[in-house]
Amino acid sequence: MRYPEEVIEEIRSKNDIVDVISGYVRLQKKGASHFGLCPFHNEKSPSFSVSGSKQMYYCFGCGAGGNVFTFVMNYENYTFGEAAKMLADRVGVNLPEMEYSEEMKKKENYRALLLEINKEAAKYFFYQLRAPQGQGGMKYLKDRQLSDETIGKFGLGFSNKTSDDLVKYLQSKGYEDKAIQDAGLASFDERYGMHDKFWNRVMYPIQDINHRVIGFGGRVMGQGEPKYLNSPETQIFDKSRNLYGLNFARTARAGNIILCEGYMDVISMHQAGFTQAVASLGTAFTAGQANLLRRYTENVLLAYDSDGAGTKAALRAIGILKEVGLTGKVISLQPYKDPDEFIKNLGKEAFQERIDQAENSFFFEIRVLEREFDLKDPEQKTKFHKEIAKKLCGFSVEVERENYLEAIAEKYHIGFDNLRKLVNTYALQTGDVGPVSRPKSGVSSKVSPEENAKKVQRLLLTWITDEPALYTKISKYVSSKDFTEELYRQVAERLFTGIEQGNYNPAAIINMFEDEQQQSEVASLFNAKLEAINTSQEKEKAFRDILLAVKKNSMEFYSKNLGADIEALTLVVEAKKALQELEKTHISLD
Ligand code: UTP
Ligand code: MN
Repeated sequence: MRYPEEVIEEIRSKNDIVDVISGYVRLQKKGASHFGLCPFHNEKSPSFSVSGSKQMYYCFGCGAGGNVFTFVMNYENYTFGEAAKMLADRVGVNLPEMEYSEEMKKKENYRALLLEINKEAAKYFFYQLRAPQGQGGMKYLKDRQLSDETIGKFGLGFSNKTSDDLVKYLQSKGYEDKAIQDAGLASFDERYGMHDKFWNRVMYPIQDINHRVIGFGGRVMGQGEPKYLNSPETQIFDKSRNLYGLNFARTARAGNIILCEGYMDVISMHQAGFTQAVASLGTAFTAGQANLLRRYTENVLLAYDSDGAGTKAALRAIGILKEVGLTGKVISLQPYKDPDEFIKNLGKEAFQERIDQAENSFFFEIRVLEREFDLKDPEQKTKFHKEIAKKLCGFSVEVERENYLEAIAEKYHIGFDNLRKLVNTYALQTGDVGPVSRPKSGVSSKVSPEENAKKVQRLLLTWITDEPALYTKISKYVSSKDFTEELYRQVAERLFTGIEQGNYNPAAIINMFEDEQQQSEVASLFNAKLEAINTSQEKEKAFRDILLAVKKNSMEFYSKNLGADIEALTLVVEAKKALQELEKTHISLD
């Protein structure tokens, strides 16, 4: 399901990146690049650069980077296909039909049919809510203080008391019974025949990120079981990969996304202006949903119910967020049960305050843990401290662990050294982390040799993308194999082959990679920060140092792999020779 590479390349080359980004960000020319305020993080002075010659952007502040596709994808929260379509339209390129196999076409067509049926059902429920038979539903929603605007925005509806009117309506539109069942809207029964799944409930359509209705949640009005009845999972409704409200939240640009438990909480928060709120779909939060969130934010604020079950669910969600690399914070709703109640009672300003005061998820975890112990009892207190130490072992990055250690020690009045000893004990027992040594300055500034090796490789790639003609001068000494980081090697190979074939095109290289993080990393390879250099002599020296460092690292790297890799010996010998030659050779940069 991909467009041919030539088409992608045509779209990319016709959309000048400076033009496109200028439509979103005010840019100023400075030297060879344009600079502006980064749209991907908050900043006051511009560190976002756009290069016309490389057709790439890169932010020196947050590391976001890529080509014109990645920009549009990230700015508009588009998929690649959506970005390609928009950019193709912008320059009048015709996108060919995507190529599907017969079987895929059938499946796609059936999915499209199920979406259509759900959309028809949503329209039907919407209409019912406004009809005389929907009065009860409307009253229920109004009693819950929802405005007409909110009811409209979320497309809320009503399934009336008749048990087969939706089925009849859909049949009259020509849909077959099997499709109506597969859409999750009806079941078949020997005795009663086809009958509606939902009746006498207010209906909450569940939409995917493209605003397509994929299912429903239906709430009883007042008491009754179950409180919410949800569509079953169908070919179009995967509860673990969608979130209620994300179709709106994805473009909220609040700098965070609020994750909560209930449909009504989402609606209530949106009505109060917190359009970044989403909820899971009647099931526990999943890793698939966390990954979905990662496309839109790094900061997830949890607004889970403040009761025991909610707290437990929040702790679980924090773990899942961590696993996919997201930071979670916890919003306190005390003394109210959920966001909906909180906002009704204290209003949106108070809720905003709670957002601003959201608690670091680790502190939250420790605070919940604390409740299990009676700290007046020395034995229990010791147990509590031991549990804290065990949890601290979970931080594998030393600086981070130290910082938490310090903060927790202070917060709970535990002697820093004592707590650290405990952590070390557990760390050694479980082998989770190495013994902790306290950095003198608080933060260890020493760069590891691996980091340094990566840095010089980035510098060399940037230099060559800035001045591709240089490559021919050094191609004798350097090859893509000298880039010992796998991603760097792939990029170098493509870049060097391109230059050799007279086809220098760094921005196209980004599309070799599908993962957003990889794309940013590739952009960073072409935008390493070169030291400010004045004289041409200094420049030559700097370039030479970088080249030698890359070569030396590659020699060491392959030396370590002797025996494991047949090619390694050849590479080491070659690298040694090249190094010796380089020592004697002058490379002019003019
Ligand atoms: P809650 O019981 O907290 O409901 O369930 P709520 O969202 O606050 O709804 P109101 O305010 O009472 O109307 C939280 C979520 O759990 C799922 C639903 O997704 C609900 O929004 N749930 C709950 C079900 O799927 N079925 C149920 O019977 C109950
Ligand atoms: Mn509620």
